[in-house]
Amino acid sequence: MALPFILLSTLVTLLPPLLFLTWYLHVPRTLPNLPRIPIYVSILGLWSPMGQDEIYERWFRTPLEKHGAVLVWFAGRWSVLVSRPDWLTDMFRNEQIYAKAGSQIKIPHAVIATLVGDNIINAHGENWRLYTGIMKAGLQKKVFETTSLLKQSRKLVNVLIDLQKEIGSKEGILVMADVQKWAVDVMGENFLDLDLKSLGQPDGAVRIEALQSIIKATLFEPMYFSFPDLDHFPWLLPSRKRAYNIMHEFDDRLYAKIMTMLHKRSESKDTPQSEEMVSHMLGEAYTSGRITEKQFRDNLKITFLTAHENAQQLVTSMFWQLGTRIDIQDRLREEILATSKTHPNPSQEVINNLPYLTAVVLELLRLFPPVCQLINRVALQPAMLGGELPIAKGTFVGWNAWAVHSNPAVWGEDAREFRAERWGESVEEMQGRFRRETVRGTYIPFNAHKRKCLGQGFALLQVKILLFVLLGRVSWIVDPEYRLKMTPGGILAPLGCRVILTELES
Ligand code: HEM
Repeated sequence: MALPFILLSTLVTLLPPLLFLTWYLHVPRTLPNLPRIPIYVSILGLWSPMGQDEIYERWFRTPLEKHGAVLVWFAGRWSVLVSRPDWLTDMFRNEQIYAKAGSQIKIPHAVIATLVGDNIINAHGENWRLYTGIMKAGLQKKVFETTSLLKQSRKLVNVLIDLQKEIGSKEGILVMADVQKWAVDVMGENFLDLDLKSLGQPDGAVRIEALQSIIKATLFEPMYFSFPDLDHFPWLLPSRKRAYNIMHEFDDRLYAKIMTMLHKRSESKDTPQSEEMVSHMLGEAYTSGRITEKQFRDNLKITFLTAHENAQQLVTSMFWQLGTRIDIQDRLREEILATSKTHPNPSQEVINNLPYLTAVVLELLRLFPPVCQLINRVALQPAMLGGELPIAKGTFVGWNAWAVHSNPAVWGEDAREFRAERWGESVEEMQGRFRRETVRGTYIPFNAHKRKCLGQGFALLQVKILLFVLLGRVSWIVDPEYRLKMTPGGILAPLGCRVILTELES
């Protein structure tokens, strides 16, 4: 009697959660017939140290290169991940069909939605037009002043040289923390009119900068990233409660800093340059009632995040790549030193006219696209992607830049090799190729078409100036003890990269 009873009661207890899980994880019939990436791959980070590159090789490359798209479990639902360039072009061109729908639409209750809200990157339609109308002029100045970029880059190089001296010439130094401080300070000075001064200070000294490391680690926790429905239970999960608190702290700190700055500026009259800043434009729109306080806060936060973290990751990747290829450093240094003799403080025009520098940065973005994968668009109506792949209304679709950039069918058999020469010889030729590949959907570090990055020009200049200053002062190798490990999810970059710097003789 006892055994059947135990079996029955176990069944009765387990059945409801099993039924719920089956319903929750099932693949909707409306999704197209494509290979499916096993769901456990999305939470692999919980038990495996594999980086994004290894995960991609093991599970994604073959089906994506064969079918051009796969079904993947992302942020709590099955979505279509695309890598075929002509399908991507269709998606990027037709924003009225494949509309931006970020976490504020998909998972409005989630921690990530609390962080980013509704902003210029993830909004669609009216709101996007409103935000772009306000912010675009501050993001896309015709000529960016290089004085502040040169100053910040020199400061970073000095900090790294001092760090190396402190630790001795045999051991590697971790670059990531100071690169983040540099990126945050550059963003503050150029977009928000904030002098954050985090570079050169101990870790944690400038709280709003220190919060960035906590935010990144919190967002990309695999379990919550893949199952954001767990964010419904902060009362049950203390780590979720902490996550919400962190997001609110960042929000309030940034708001307070910007309001203080705007108040100070309004008191003093001599601010002609700072008026071109995104923060002033948003401040004016807020005080005149064109946007709400929430929209003001959300767009400040996204500017803070996007204008520092992508450059930070790209520079970390640059330290790794050039630290393993002294030949590239040498060739680049030759070009830079020849220019710095006549232009010790180069303008935007001088920097953008250096061919090898341009090619190296384009190639870095090809092999290390910081925004590697995004699934933040939804089909507003039934559609046929590229005229071939049926997409039902309500389906979430996205892209993977590494998949496109590393596909031999797109970039040739040497697609995974760093070969700056592939971009051509003259700057004009490189710009032409950059434009063509972007339009064709074969080069998408900044996305393409209507919703492509508005900070692209600035970001390229910022990284080129850092290289200009860095290669003029030091050479470096990757610490022989360091083994390349890419980040497990989210933004793509080498994790914990250590380098040994040597100061050049002057
Ligand atoms: C290496 C640096 C950067 C990379 C790789 C990068 C990449 C991207 C990508 C991939 C997108 C498209 C996102 C999507 O499809 O949802 C994007 C959009 C955007 N980026 Fe960047 N970005 C960089 C730097 C910057 C900087 C410095 C800013 C300045 C604030 C900026 C501002 C924006 C804005 C405003 C958009 C939204 C454009 C729109 O939807 O109309 N980005 N970026």
